[in-house]
Amino acid sequence: MTAKVLAFTNNKGGTGKSTLCSNIAHCATLAGHRVLVIDLTSQVTCTTLFLENGDNLEEAETVLALLKKKPERPIVELCYHSHKGLDIVPASVSMAQAVIQLSAIPIGAEKILDRQIKQVSDRYDYIFIDSPGELNELTSNALVSADKILIPTRVNRTDFQCTETMLLFIEEVAPLIGHKEVKVIINMFDDRYKNIWSGSHLGKLYLQAQETFGELLSSITVPESSDIRTAFDRGLTVMEYKPRDMAARRIQELFNQEVVGSGRRK
Ligand SMILES: Nc1ncnc2c1ncn2[C@@H]1O[C@H](COP(=O)(O)OP(=O)(O)OP(=O)(O)O)[C@@H](O)[C@H]1O
Ligand SMILES: [Mg+2]
Repeated sequence: MTAKVLAFTNNKGGTGKSTLCSNIAHCATLAGHRVLVIDLTSQVTCTTLFLENGDNLEEAETVLALLKKKPERPIVELCYHSHKGLDIVPASVSMAQAVIQLSAIPIGAEKILDRQIKQVSDRYDYIFIDSPGELNELTSNALVSADKILIPTRVNRTDFQCTETMLLFIEEVAPLIGHKEVKVIINMFDDRYKNIWSGSHLGKLYLQAQETFGELLSSITVPESSDIRTAFDRGLTVMEYKPRDMAARRIQELFNQEVVGSGRRK
C-alpha cells in the first residue's frame, strides 16, 4: 500500500495551512498511522514544531538538498524522526534558494518532489505537504505530488478571492498535473454564523462561500481558538494540549472526513 499525499495550499498567507497541516498530521499519528510531513515553507512552522533542532539545520540537511535537478541526498536520508512520533522532511529558512534552484531547471521542475516521494511512499500511510502562501515552483511541486489538495481559508473577501484564484489555477493546470481531489476548509470561524447569526456580515460571507465553492467546501470548519495558538507557543499541537476541546475535535473530524476514506496514490 502506498501513502495518500495531501497538500495544504493557498496563495494567501496566514490562512492556517501550517496549523492545519501540523495538527492533522499529528492527529493521524496519534491514531496509529505512519505519517510523513514535508515542509516547503521558509516559516519552518512544521519543522520547528516537530524537530527540537529544527531551526538549527544546515541547508544540506533540509528539503533544499532534494529540490535540485540532481538531488544531493535521497529523500530517505532527509526523513527525520520526530519525538511526536511522525517523520518530517524539514524546510530551511532559505526556501527562496529552492525557488531559484527549481526555476533553473528547463523541463520537469514541478515533478522533482513527486519523484522523491515515490521512493518512500510505501513506508507511510499519509504524507502531508505544507506549502508557501504564494504560487511558485514549490507550490507546483506540492500540487503535482498531491492526491488531494486542501485549501484553508478565513472568512473574508481577500481570502475568498485568493482561494478562487487557487482553484482556477488548479483547474488550468489539471491537464498537466492530472485531476486532483480538492477541498476548501474554512478556518478561524465561529459556527454560530452558519445558523443563529446567519444574518450578520460574517454569516452572509459564509453563505457566499457556500455559493462560490459549492461541493468543494468542506462541511467542517475550524474555530478561532486561543488553544491552537497557545499550544504552538508551547511546542505542542492542540491534539496534545487540549485534546477534548472544540478545536481538537474539529481537527479529528477533518482527519476522518477529508483525509481518511478517499482515494490513494496509484
Ligand atoms: N484556528 C485557529 N485559531 C487560532 N489561531 C489560528 C488558527 N489557525 C491559525 N492560527 C494562527 O494564525 C497564524 C497563521 O497561521 P498559519 O501559520 O498556520 O498560516 P499559514 O497559512 O501557514 O501562513 P503562511 O502562508 O505564512 O505560511 C498563526 O499565528 C496561527 O497560530
Ligand atoms: Mg505556513
